[in-house]
Amino acid sequence: MDCALLLLSLLALAGSVFPQTARVTTGSCAPRLLVDEKRKSCTKTCTTDKECGSRRQCLCDGQCGLSCVIPGRTCPWPLPPSENSEVILLHPTSTFDALLEVRCKPGFTLPNGLDATKRRCQGDRQWSGDVPVCKESIQPTTSQTCPLPEEVTNTFSIQGNATVGTSIRYSCLSGADIVGSSENFCQDNQTWQYPHPICKEVFCQPPREVEQGYVVAVQKTEYEVGFDIHYLCKRNFQLDGPQKVTCLPNGSWSAAPPHCRARCLIPAERSRVVIDGVKRWPFDVTDAMVPHGENVTFYCKHPHKQCSFTATKTCFDGELQPPTCYLEPTWLQYKLFPHRLVSEIEACEPGDEE
Ligand SMILES: *[C@@H]1O[C@H](CO)[C@@H](O)[C@H](O)[C@H]1NC(C)=O
Ligand SMILES: *[C@@H]1O[C@H](CO)[C@@H](O)[C@H](O)[C@H]1NC(C)=O
Repeated sequence: MDCALLLLSLLALAGSVFPQTARVTTGSCAPRLLVDEKRKSCTKTCTTDKECGSRRQCLCDGQCGLSCVIPGRTCPWPLPPSENSEVILLHPTSTFDALLEVRCKPGFTLPNGLDATKRRCQGDRQWSGDVPVCKESIQPTTSQTCPLPEEVTNTFSIQGNATVGTSIRYSCLSGADIVGSSENFCQDNQTWQYPHPICKEVFCQPPREVEQGYVVAVQKTEYEVGFDIHYLCKRNFQLDGPQKVTCLPNGSWSAAPPHCRARCLIPAERSRVVIDGVKRWPFDVTDAMVPHGENVTFYCKHPHKQCSFTATKTCFDGELQPPTCYLEPTWLQYKLFPHRLVSEIEACEPGDEE
């Protein structure tokens, strides 16, 4: 056997044969260092026992350094019980230089973050240091997980919580098929067993053409997810539906394309009508037309009385039929008796209705 190795083994053996005693060897005692204000009662410093008189010995007393102490003196024991900690005397008696351990109960820690500390019985018959206080520890509750980057969570719906030692399952948010493993395992070193899968790329087919309208987009054979198509209608046509559609992750457009609806010619010439709350002559309206969706209120004559009631029709994509009760006045009626036109006479009372 190698010589140095033999020596090491012997030293190790010696360590186990002669266990450490409570008594500190005087040779390695630190000099008196009074940083701890609580330690006011250091006894006389010394270098040898002879300086200390008959009952005292020159012993190392922690921060007091070598001091004349009475080795038989004891520190208070047992100590008053503490709610959050347990105190264990590490020596048979609580005499000078004995150690005790203060151990915080589970879930509690000392201000320095540790869960245990030792105190030494000093020459002044006090335990060293302040009385340790164990406080409830705020432990990070997050368990170890494997990373799930945003690209992955944006692409897949993930089943499972990605914690170490568990599996997750992927499904493509787009509803597309998965290329790769649809299951993955979070390993102890917080990495995934397999690379993340991918979703088959999805495209939207070109949407149908819009009559009397324009598609404001580059013409393509297919459109990628998120692509927007804007619509415009030709002059005098009204957009009915969305102005914009978006290619969704499942390959459909966010909405059906809109329609471009035509204006309607007002089917009256010699009567006033109500458009948008205003009673006007049709020839005063631009082109005598109303936009798609506009309501036009016509005046009809009461069958028996000299009064008028109204009937409303809505323009739909170029179609606006007058109500059946509406009679277009003749040119003579219009020219000779303009004040007797149905649209100009008194309105019927509510009770006049048939
Ligand atoms: C695509 O997704 C949209 C919105 O999530 C849904 O309304 C539509 O029905 C889906 N289309 C298909 C073909 O699955
Ligand atoms: C036309 O009338 C209908 C029914 O009263 C109403 O819902 C609609 O908002 C009106 N349209 C316009 C453009 O005022």
